[in-house]
Amino acid sequence: MSHEEFPTDRPAVVTCGLPYANGDLHIGHLRTYVGGDVLSRALRTVGQQTAFVCGSDMHGTPIAVQAIEENTDPESFALAWHEQYQETFPQFDVDFDNFGHTHDDTNRELTYEFVDALESEGYVYEDEVLVAWDPADDQPLPDRYVEGTCPYCGEQARGDECDEGCGRHLEPGEIEDPVSAISGNPAEYRERTHKFFRVSDLAEYLSGFLDRLEGTANARNQPRQWIEEGLQDWCITRDLDWGFDYPGEEDLVLYVWVDAPIEYVASTRQYSERVGSDTYDWEAVWKADGVVEAASETGDADEGDPSDAGGEIVHIIGQDIIQHHTIFWPAMLHVADYAEPRAVVASGFMNLDGDAFSTSRNRAIWAREFLEEGFPPDTLRYYLTTVGGFQDEIDFSWDRFAERVNGELVGNVGNFAYRSLLFAHRNYGGTPDADLSAEVRERIADAVEAFQAAVNDYSTREATQAAVDLAGFGNEYIQRHEPWNLDEDEAAPVIRDCVQLAKAVAVLIAPATPDTARRLWDQLGEDGDVADATLDAALEAPPAEFDAPEELFTKVEDERIEKLNAKLDDRVETVGEEGAADDGETESDETDGDDDGDMAYEPLADERISFDDFEDVDIRVGHVEDAEPIEDSDKLVRLDVDIGVETRQVVAGIKQLHDVDSLPGTDVVVLANLEKAELFGYESDGMVLAAGEEANLLTTHGDAEPGTKIR
Ligand code: MF3
Ligand code: ZN
Repeated sequence: MSHEEFPTDRPAVVTCGLPYANGDLHIGHLRTYVGGDVLSRALRTVGQQTAFVCGSDMHGTPIAVQAIEENTDPESFALAWHEQYQETFPQFDVDFDNFGHTHDDTNRELTYEFVDALESEGYVYEDEVLVAWDPADDQPLPDRYVEGTCPYCGEQARGDECDEGCGRHLEPGEIEDPVSAISGNPAEYRERTHKFFRVSDLAEYLSGFLDRLEGTANARNQPRQWIEEGLQDWCITRDLDWGFDYPGEEDLVLYVWVDAPIEYVASTRQYSERVGSDTYDWEAVWKADGVVEAASETGDADEGDPSDAGGEIVHIIGQDIIQHHTIFWPAMLHVADYAEPRAVVASGFMNLDGDAFSTSRNRAIWAREFLEEGFPPDTLRYYLTTVGGFQDEIDFSWDRFAERVNGELVGNVGNFAYRSLLFAHRNYGGTPDADLSAEVRERIADAVEAFQAAVNDYSTREATQAAVDLAGFGNEYIQRHEPWNLDEDEAAPVIRDCVQLAKAVAVLIAPATPDTARRLWDQLGEDGDVADATLDAALEAPPAEFDAPEELFTKVEDERIEKLNAKLDDRVETVGEEGAADDGETESDETDGDDDGDMAYEPLADERISFDDFEDVDIRVGHVEDAEPIEDSDKLVRLDVDIGVETRQVVAGIKQLHDVDSLPGTDVVVLANLEKAELFGYESDGMVLAAGEEANLLTTHGDAEPGTKIR
């Protein structure tokens, strides 16, 4: 990797955590895949050569056990799901350049190459471990079928991770008071000989690696702490018949987490072999000696420095698998003389209506279901990308979905593109012959710069926001110039500007909403695919002629949302009742890491912010002067709030608990330096603070002047 800004002259690869091939995908899973897809498209937009790869994770105990339950063999079981994923991802325009799987020959070959390297570099040793054993069946218990207490935090833990407590990876034998999740009987621990990877020897390398690592902060902070506490060696074999056999050991297979990330390399290699290494060279990305040579010709490489080797490797993952990607995986890469990742971008969890998704309780919106409802994939992509920062915990609700689609996509982006192109087509048959104004040229250049900066920050949300804000500017611009009140000559430069803005919006929004951008591109009469356009295109003149446009988005109606909510409620209730009867239904079929507990509280944020960060937040006492409901919205109210210095228009989702008429005269607490947003066509300049789903407004006790700072 390099530490230069994107685009660099090395190839990049963006990977997404491999889904276990054992169950249906819901929209919570899609968060990371959409994130990876948007980022890889955005990298291409800034001119970075990028491959986007993934594959199915075919090994591991859950798959072996589920196959037995379904009377089939693990390979056919996993392949069936693999094929389904291959179909599902493209339906959301998640377009991997290669989607392989871990049980194929490419991965097998590379995996053995890695294991050989670990062995020959002296990093593997044998040790006795305690393996949980089912005394009744006289066989070892697969990881996920051992339950007990986490030795680190005391929470209930299962298999190889403490998924309800501290989130740590657990080694065999570590769970205390083990019980078989299959029979419910206490399990025995028996001594077995297993292979270990001496990760503890690599602590120094890994801590340097973490200092260089880019991406989200959660992917650096947690592992730093683990290293400080002292790294343990890692058991890399299991007693199981499903997986890659450990070389020379009949009874042992490789632990699934060894061969799974190697599929990142294998999948890149398959892509490279398909398109030819002149087009995309997997070795230049992955091999430590791949690029050192090429880079040293330009004089910018320190020969032999592993941190300057290879291409730009970017891993997009869920936050539950940070340890595997920032400790075990870079340790393997390092020993095998492969290049190190440049960035690990880890997403927060996603909830549904404030509670965890639960596949076993059918408390989920399934990927297929979303499409069957007829919603365009772009709407979900947009929601997932913009509803929160990538490492934030986010929530999906149909209400908020409708609010964002209607307010931002229909009301802002769609509206601007349609009115501009329609005016242009009707009056000029396309882009009018006039010069682009300096104001609009600059505004577009700013948006391009914001997009570029966001890509370098791995922030797909901000990259997309750059496009949406540009459309917001466009609406304001057309409103300000009122071209409908001008004659044809006077209106021409205004419309020329608007069409250029629409084109720039198409280029910048294409990563998040590729299908919409494609349609807008066609409407503009542009040739080729907007996905191939780079940032320069934002300021290149659009074609002089184009046809009448069509609306880009359709409004989601309130009745529709009511129905969708009712459908979800009914389903979860019914399943909940049935579920209570069959108490075998625990998390044992939850293999995807999304917690299933009935959480009454949102978990406390892991990360502390500094006092300085807090000081950046400008919170003031405000006095509501005027309030009016926003039509078409269940929750939103438009407020005029006096914050001493000035009066602000704020749009707030507070209709649930508060009667709009009673709001004027209320003292509220206002976050004054929040970025502006447009909701249902209204600009919101600040946020009033309120508690919980009900939006219970915060106020002050005793008189505080509007504008008083809150600290
Ligand atoms: N299948 C794993 C999971 O869902 C992820 C594997 S990612 C890889 O948790 F790095 F191992 F590839
Ligand atoms: Zn724990």
